[in-house]
Amino acid sequence: MSSEKFYVTTPIYYVNDKPHIGHAYTTIVADILARYHRSLGDTTFFLTGTDEHGQKVQKAAEEHGMTPQQQCDDTVVRFKELWRELEIKNDKFIRTTDDNHKAVVQEIMQDLYERDLIYKDEYKGFYCVPCERFFTKKDLDEKLCCPECQRETQEIIESNYFFRMSNYQEWLIEYIETHPDFIQPAFRANETLGFLKKPLGDLCVSRPKARLAWGIELPFDKDYVCYVWFDALINYISGIGYRRDDEMFKKWWPASCQLIGKDILTTHTVYWPAMLKAMGIEMPQSILAHGWWLVGRTKMSKSIGNVVNPMDMIQKYGLDAFRYFLMAEMTMGQDASFTEDAFVARYNSDLANDLGNLTSRVVKMTLRHGNGVIPQPGELTAPENELNAALDNAVVEMEKALKTMRVNQGLDHIMNAVRAGNRYMEQTAPWTLAKKGETGRLNTVLYCVAEALRKISILLDPVMPDKMTALRDALGIKEAGEGHLDTLKQDKNILSGLQMHDLDALFLRIKPEEQKPEKKQKKEKKSEPPGEGLITFDEFFNTQLKTAKVLEAEKVEDTDKLLKLQIQVGEEERQLVAGVAQFYTPEEMVGKNIVIVANLKPAKIRGIKSQGMLLAAKDGKDLKLITLDGDIPTGSSVG
Ligand code: ME8
Ligand code: MG
Repeated sequence: MSSEKFYVTTPIYYVNDKPHIGHAYTTIVADILARYHRSLGDTTFFLTGTDEHGQKVQKAAEEHGMTPQQQCDDTVVRFKELWRELEIKNDKFIRTTDDNHKAVVQEIMQDLYERDLIYKDEYKGFYCVPCERFFTKKDLDEKLCCPECQRETQEIIESNYFFRMSNYQEWLIEYIETHPDFIQPAFRANETLGFLKKPLGDLCVSRPKARLAWGIELPFDKDYVCYVWFDALINYISGIGYRRDDEMFKKWWPASCQLIGKDILTTHTVYWPAMLKAMGIEMPQSILAHGWWLVGRTKMSKSIGNVVNPMDMIQKYGLDAFRYFLMAEMTMGQDASFTEDAFVARYNSDLANDLGNLTSRVVKMTLRHGNGVIPQPGELTAPENELNAALDNAVVEMEKALKTMRVNQGLDHIMNAVRAGNRYMEQTAPWTLAKKGETGRLNTVLYCVAEALRKISILLDPVMPDKMTALRDALGIKEAGEGHLDTLKQDKNILSGLQMHDLDALFLRIKPEEQKPEKKQKKEKKSEPPGEGLITFDEFFNTQLKTAKVLEAEKVEDTDKLLKLQIQVGEEERQLVAGVAQFYTPEEMVGKNIVIVANLKPAKIRGIKSQGMLLAAKDGKDLKLITLDGDIPTGSSVG
């Protein structure tokens, strides 16, 4: 057993509206990481909570005809309820309206003020209400719109208090450059370094009460409240005893992993490190920014109003399938598009077909032969070794994935092991062994597939805790201890002799036609075929061609044909695997403006997710990319 420390945080969410799947995603990632670490025996602390001050919340309260506190008290329940439904096992839930948090923020401000790290000055700026951010004129375009959300800003002139953030610019650049794991993925570190190329101003950390009363009062000037971001970021330390319980604080800080969405990169990789440095506190080990859940090409967002309600998805498809989908569908760091079709497709293929089938075959076969008692295995042969190799690989890869917090990568290997289990069943055909009366061999097969399911259930437990508990119950495993990850490495037979129980299908297949009746009708109204070899306009435009720019390129291991590309398509970043490595080096590819098929069903090529296909002209042994004759934004349609 390892006994390392693991402290994971999520952003604390605004209580201006109820949570959607974006919030659910970050919180589930944190929950899964925490569960894995607990099951490895690490002492683990998982903090989440709500960000309750500031203009956004005050505005929502006004709209609802409530006091800000009522708005908070009402909305926080929605978050807590959802986390309960999602079986989020956080160790603490912090609210920035908690007395302790408020007092700690005030003490920190007082200290910085006394050390002249906070000072008073006159300020002219442009304010974006939805983002709660101030900008100077040079940050804005000619329409004076917010560079983050493109909405209009308001001009403001007032006296305010400032944090000497500019003091830390040089130090921060050096810190990021010398700590490659500090900001992840690496391209986000580059984004922050890019931001730090411009001179870093001081940060306005106050708001006059006359304009915004809902916040923590400054201890040295009762006419002002604290800027909501300065207040909110402090939750990560006030939540673990900073200035209150030294022992607890030392136990947990520095955080192992601070999860955020890419929307709040600057506040977490510039403001927050500068604040910590000023307070004399160590930096967190890593800040990991994930991408966005999109609807079409736009971010799913409360203020845009295109949100998917997680409660609906849970009710319709079950909690574990929802947790699995969110984890498997999004490549950590990149954007992913949320559609119910993609949900149903992945559910059916990974859960109902691969995992569900394997489980029901194993349970049914064992119940039929030997009354469900898991037999003793005989000698292991090549197919068993192959299956075990796939399982061992899944364990190793999951461990690696945990170290880098890329749960989705571990899941890919676990699903490979599940598919290896199904292949093994086909190959060894226990039903035929039973018919032929080859009991010794049958016993070996039944034992091995049961053992495969045990391992898979443990590996998937943090992602699908309910279903995997049900699966272990069916295998006859009761003791909680046997659910731990580190038992996977013991070569001990704990299954032989256990009594299996029947279980209902783990994941019932969803019939797509039941899912989307409207869609089917549309298809039936298809127009007449235009004649052999020809296609209609509509048929052509079923293929969405778009412009894209290659951001990164690297060779796919163990092949000389494939390159893995990260590309920009409008606001979205995608990964694409292309068979161009014999014609272009990765270095040549980066920066090229190409054309892709944007609505191709995502595929796995060599286990790597590929979202789309690039266009190239081919003639025998030669290949040339289709590139653009001039500048046009990425994501533009072609055709
Ligand atoms: O920014 N896709 O709170 P917030 C993926 N209170 N993740 C998403 C998402 C999407 N479409 N939408 C939201 C705040 N998220 C501040 C944070 S922390 C000291 C203060 C997730 O309610 C993602 O984690 O706007 C994102 O960073 C966070 O919710 C923003 O939540
Ligand atoms: Mg937001």
